[in-house]
Amino acid sequence: MPIEVESPESLGYNTIECNLAESSVRDVLFKHLQINLDELVICYGDHIGKPELRALIAAEFTGIHADDVLLTIGAAGALFVIHSSLLAAGDHIIVVRPNYAVNIETPKAIGCSISYIDLQFENSYALDIEAVRAALTPSTKLISITTPHNPTGTVVDEKTLAALCTLAEEYGCYLLVDETYRELSFAVPTPLAAGISNRAISVSSVSKAYGIPGIRLGWIITKEAALQQLFLAAKEQGHICNSVVDEEICYQYLLKKESYFTAIKKEVQYCFNHLEQWMDNHAYLEWAKPSGGVVCFPRFRRGVEIDTEKFYNILLNRYKTYVGPGHWFEQSKRSFRLGFGWETREAFVKGLQNIDKAIEESLGVG
Ligand SMILES: Cc1ncc(COP(=O)(O)O)c(C=O)c1O
Repeated sequence: MPIEVESPESLGYNTIECNLAESSVRDVLFKHLQINLDELVICYGDHIGKPELRALIAAEFTGIHADDVLLTIGAAGALFVIHSSLLAAGDHIIVVRPNYAVNIETPKAIGCSISYIDLQFENSYALDIEAVRAALTPSTKLISITTPHNPTGTVVDEKTLAALCTLAEEYGCYLLVDETYRELSFAVPTPLAAGISNRAISVSSVSKAYGIPGIRLGWIITKEAALQQLFLAAKEQGHICNSVVDEEICYQYLLKKESYFTAIKKEVQYCFNHLEQWMDNHAYLEWAKPSGGVVCFPRFRRGVEIDTEKFYNILLNRYKTYVGPGHWFEQSKRSFRLGFGWETREAFVKGLQNIDKAIEESLGVG
């Protein structure tokens, strides 16, 4: 299924009053960023990416240099570059499921043989390292994880991350870590995977934490120079370089990011606190509490008889409230992704009330 068919963008933002389907923080207005593009030359950019921007990104991490950073068109572009250049039909890979669609669909389209690591509600959606170990074979090319995770918000702890790096080294494969929600970890973020091992590839972007996903700017970090060359070649074939406009906006934004980010985190915290209270002892829903990101994946309690089609239908059409049904992630419709970063406080609180109303009106088997 194309990702966008049921996206808020496709439905039209004006049909939704309470948008709890988003996986990012609230989008910002360009005029509020005080960005000056007057002196920008609209040339082809540096193929690797604007050097000053790469240096700024690298400076966030110990032991990472500007040359280890390749700029891409969002994290989605990064993932596509990695999968399309590293993998071929028949290659064995290990991927966490559920996941952001690109992490599964691109290797599938390439014809990879995929072992899925299915995250279980009963295990709080934690990554089971023993399951990864059991799935590894001498010919495995890639282990692919996402942390903080979309759609559950779980975070892979430092010990597990280090153990995954060791496994990748032992088996001579790569570890891809989609860290797009890294800055939205509730605690101090785990170390950058690419900083732990040359076998690890880290991917991220400015889309989720800063409210600027329309700047299509992401990156791949790896300390293995030959691998970065391969990714650069793939990037050049797809789109030569990034948009210099996006790069410049991103650069000026990141220079001042702390002044924006404090306010963003405050809003996310408010909504999360409210969400926690709402979920505590909820009569019909249960969840694995997230540890990062701006999404979680609640589900209807076992035994709750609910017509899920009716629920989503009433929620959207009667209450103009939108969440991401489980089938977006090839999961049961009894689970849904709920985003707590995008809406205003008022609309978020109202959205939760609307979910309660839609549940009450959909109880009983249809
Ligand atoms: C885990 C994850 N990775 C990557 C992306 C792509 O983000 P972007 O291309 O906007 O940077 C998303 C978007 O939802 C995501 O959830």
